[in-house]
Amino acid sequence: MESNKTFTMIKPDAVANGHIGAILDKITKSGFKIVALKYTALSAQKAGEFYAVHAGRPFYNDLVTFMSSGPIVAAILEKDNAVADFRTLIGATDPSKAEPGTIRALFAKSIDANAVHGSDSDENAQIEGSFFFSAFEKF
Ligand code: CMP
Repeated sequence: MESNKTFTMIKPDAVANGHIGAILDKITKSGFKIVALKYTALSAQKAGEFYAVHAGRPFYNDLVTFMSSGPIVAAILEKDNAVADFRTLIGATDPSKAEPGTIRALFAKSIDANAVHGSDSDENAQIEGSFFFSAFEKF
């Protein structure tokens, strides 16, 4: 299992609020290399599949509705210790608890509209990256 890759999405709130450029700038200036990048949108069905691990949780339906409400940016990122370092860079899931200067503290409004997703393990980084990208789209 690779420990130098993670997967991220810039969520519909951050895209709608014009933060794509600022977030990608912060990511690359923090030492992550972009391996794959895509501007796209999730249907409700695809959002449900992506977040299937959360099916049954009370926030699942709202999560699926929100994540299919507008375009997103998907990316695979490379750096030593990528999963843990990226989670530090984005901050806590609830932006009101995120450290100052983190992406969620800077750009997120609520636990639902929390600007970015970051994989929580090497295994999920691999699964989530492959959900969006083929081998021909990774460099
Ligand atoms: P993300 O890292 O994309 O993974 C699942 C998402 O569900 C999470 O960010 C939040 O945006 C959303 N969510 C809403 N409520 C909760 C909650 N109570 N716990 C975890 N995630 C939540």
